[in-house]
Amino acid sequence: MESKSKIQLFFLTLFLFTLTLHAETLGTYIVQLHPHGITSTSFTSRLKWHLSFIQQTISSDEDPSLRLLYSYRSAMDGFAAQLTESELEYLKNLPDVISIRPDRKLQLQTTYSYKFLGLNPARENGWYQSGFGRRTIIGVLDTGVWPESPSFNDQGMPPIPKRWKGVCQAGKAFNSSNCNRKLIGARYFTKGHFSVSPFRIPEYLSPRDSSGHGTHTASTAAGVPVPLASVFGYASGVARGMAPGAHIAVYKVCWFNGCYNSDIMAAMDVAIRDGVDILSLSLGGYSLPLYDDSIAIGSYRAMEHGISVICAAGNNGPMEMSVANEAPWISTIGASTLDRKFPATVHMGNGQMLYGESMYPLNHHPMSSGKEVELVYVSEGDTESQFCLRGSLPKDKVRGKMVVCDRGVNGRAEKGQVVKEAGGVAMILANTEINLGEDSVDVHVLPATLVGFDEAVTLKAYINSTKRPLARIEFGGTVIGKSRAPAVARFSARGPSYTNPSILKPDVIAPGVNIIAAWPQNLGPTGLPEDARRVNFSVMSGTSMACPHVSGIAALIRSAHPRWTPAAVKSAIMTTAEVTDHTGRPILDEDQPAGVFDMGAGHVNPQRALNPGLVYDIRPDDYITHLCSLGYTKSEIFSITHRNVSCNGIIKMNRGFSLNYPSFSVIFKDEVRRKMFSRRLTNVGSANSIYSVEVKAPAGVKVIVKPKRLVFKQVNQSLSYRVWFISRKKVKRGDGLVNHSEGSLTWVHSQNGSYRVRSPVAVTWKSK
Ligand SMILES: *[C@@H]1O[C@H](CO)[C@@H](O)[C@H](O)[C@H]1NC(C)=O
Ligand SMILES: *[C@@H]1O[C@H](CO)[C@@H](O)[C@H](O)[C@H]1NC(C)=O
Ligand SMILES: *[C@@H]1O[C@H](CO)[C@@H](O)[C@H](O)[C@H]1NC(C)=O
Ligand SMILES: *[C@@H]1O[C@H](CO)[C@@H](O)[C@H](O)[C@H]1NC(C)=O
Ligand SMILES: *[C@@H]1O[C@H](CO)[C@@H](O)[C@H](O)[C@H]1NC(C)=O
Ligand SMILES: *[C@@H]1O[C@H](CO)[C@@H](O)[C@H](O)[C@H]1NC(C)=O
Ligand SMILES: *[C@@H]1O[C@H](CO)[C@@H](O)[C@H](O)[C@H]1NC(C)=O
Repeated sequence: MESKSKIQLFFLTLFLFTLTLHAETLGTYIVQLHPHGITSTSFTSRLKWHLSFIQQTISSDEDPSLRLLYSYRSAMDGFAAQLTESELEYLKNLPDVISIRPDRKLQLQTTYSYKFLGLNPARENGWYQSGFGRRTIIGVLDTGVWPESPSFNDQGMPPIPKRWKGVCQAGKAFNSSNCNRKLIGARYFTKGHFSVSPFRIPEYLSPRDSSGHGTHTASTAAGVPVPLASVFGYASGVARGMAPGAHIAVYKVCWFNGCYNSDIMAAMDVAIRDGVDILSLSLGGYSLPLYDDSIAIGSYRAMEHGISVICAAGNNGPMEMSVANEAPWISTIGASTLDRKFPATVHMGNGQMLYGESMYPLNHHPMSSGKEVELVYVSEGDTESQFCLRGSLPKDKVRGKMVVCDRGVNGRAEKGQVVKEAGGVAMILANTEINLGEDSVDVHVLPATLVGFDEAVTLKAYINSTKRPLARIEFGGTVIGKSRAPAVARFSARGPSYTNPSILKPDVIAPGVNIIAAWPQNLGPTGLPEDARRVNFSVMSGTSMACPHVSGIAALIRSAHPRWTPAAVKSAIMTTAEVTDHTGRPILDEDQPAGVFDMGAGHVNPQRALNPGLVYDIRPDDYITHLCSLGYTKSEIFSITHRNVSCNGIIKMNRGFSLNYPSFSVIFKDEVRRKMFSRRLTNVGSANSIYSVEVKAPAGVKVIVKPKRLVFKQVNQSLSYRVWFISRKKVKRGDGLVNHSEGSLTWVHSQNGSYRVRSPVAVTWKSK
């Protein structure tokens, strides 16, 4: 008896130990290898070579292929595998292992605003004609696609380009007949995600989108025009993507729990071989050193293959240095607002009115008024009910009332569902100090509106001032053109870049608030499982929505100028961006003029970007010199570029080098008072063009440009200039020291003033 229990105990302990061992230490790692390493071996395939590393590392009786998640060769050389920490130690020291990074989870860059349908009037500028974007292929890395959406109809689409090597991967509720000449490819990548999170219904194990995000972004980039009846009575018209003539290839890398680097890398790896022209990534995390950032590494290889990589800047604004995806070979996109409002005003019992916004269709009529009911803000020391988290609202306090919920923590549409479930009849979403006046509106399951921070303070004071506070909501439909736009969206991530402040980021801003685009036909407009309404379009906000606008614009440019490099495409978008809004005054950020760290070069102007006059081009080798100038080590540079370079030699050969970037970030450190940059412009306009420079010097800085005139005899001709920034001391303003200042440098065509090639200038003084 005794001995038996001892044995049992022994087995139990062993079992627990094994369990613990795996639970604690098996993690996913991305292992980067020397690309030429295989040549000195006898392996007949990369896969076998990759497996040999795992084989050497793990215990001999285990099948190494069970540990391998992905084998990479185009976006990176190496593999993703599940390993323990002690195995890692061993693997690290094997020859040809360059670096090992733990897998990381990234996020989709929406603000979790699920809304509904209509039209985006800011896109109705008449600049695009059918056919724009033709012959280009946009690869969208996201949550998949709802292929039956009318936005992906292929009527009138040209044939699939012959160079296309992608596939339409079958899976749950998805097969090859779901692809067509618009949606030419679809794949899904599960291994990184599902090695960490269990599979969950209603997720589709296929390229089919169960969340709506990927359908929304893909159609924003290249959806075909869809004439819309006005559903729910709000904005109506034609919905279409930026590049309706472009083909779409979908790579599903994001699942219900986020997007894993190992899956993203696998998608980039195959997308490069499939033949995409543009990669659109509405996802990201935080700023990372470039050699540690999988997206930066994968997109370097993509760039070398001539692929433009467009990424969301992130939604962690307005905090300084919140911008992510900042590699200089990536286009980093912030978000702007449109001039379209959906007023839904709160009329309080004391006669006061509070401006709010909403898309809730009352009685399917957008111009309607709710009835007056009692108001309640359930907050007494309880943050859960203050934010209306699931299960937090006491039914006896809420039943029959209009409930105030603070923004934050959970999704806005979810708060509406929580109020409804507790018996509430209406909701007021109250911005907190973080959101101020930011107005991403939503579709809700009950009458609701969103008010700014100042209004929220007034509202709560009123509730506090009386025994029986009352209110009703008056819905005002769709109002266009009454507000100043574009403006910087409050959530849009801001520069300067944390990892590389010598490059000004974000690059540009594009529409990212209240964007209407395609939506899965089995989801309600809120995306909530409880929402039984069915729609073809919905509304979302985030830099996730801004990114595919620029991906579409890049497709238009590539279509018009097939030979341009990704750097030339980016230059065209940046140097033609607008810094004034539709009233002709400076673009705003809240109530201040927006700065270069808020909007980069400004707001995209697709029409002008198609014909920029001059471009700042960059060759892949220039990025290596740039990385050397940042002081990166040989192995760090190797991780990014897969090239074995000697920075000493490169720096000697490139004295005075600066990356030919379309913007300037000038950093005065300590006693340094003088900075010189050289730039090279290529004429992509007409022969015999003369350009003169116009400088708006940043406060506290003297700017000298040589030469002041550039005479281009031919198209394709390149000319260089130099610019010196000389600090005149720190500037005093009020009581504090200003350590940022900004200006611009613009080359203007002597005969045609429409050619204005503008670069923003950011100046930073840094004391140690
Ligand atoms: C794809 O699925 C649809 C619906 O299930 C079916 O009708 C069709 O035959 C399938 N096509 C192929 C090529 O398997
Ligand atoms: C409500 O009133 C009490 C006392 O009158 C005051 O202490 C409290 O700050 C008020 N709260 C709000 C939100 O105005
Ligand atoms: C969505 O689009 C399909 C195909 O165009 C159409 O048949 C359907 O009626 C639309 N659904 C709604 C809710 O408008
Ligand atoms: C890089 O090149 C040097 C010689 O140029 C060589 O000794 C070294 O092994 C190379 N390193 C890698 C990682 O290829
Ligand atoms: C410009 O240069 C590219 C290659 O560098 C060439 O293919 C193209 O034809 C040139 N265009 C003109 C107008 O000379
Ligand atoms: C002037 O420049 C614009 C581009 O900014 C171009 O579209 C237009 O054709 C040019 N006009 C002439 C006469 O060259
Ligand atoms: C900028 O100035 C502020 C206040 O003068 C100071 O707190 C901050 O550290 C400065 N930042 C840099 C980067 O020098």
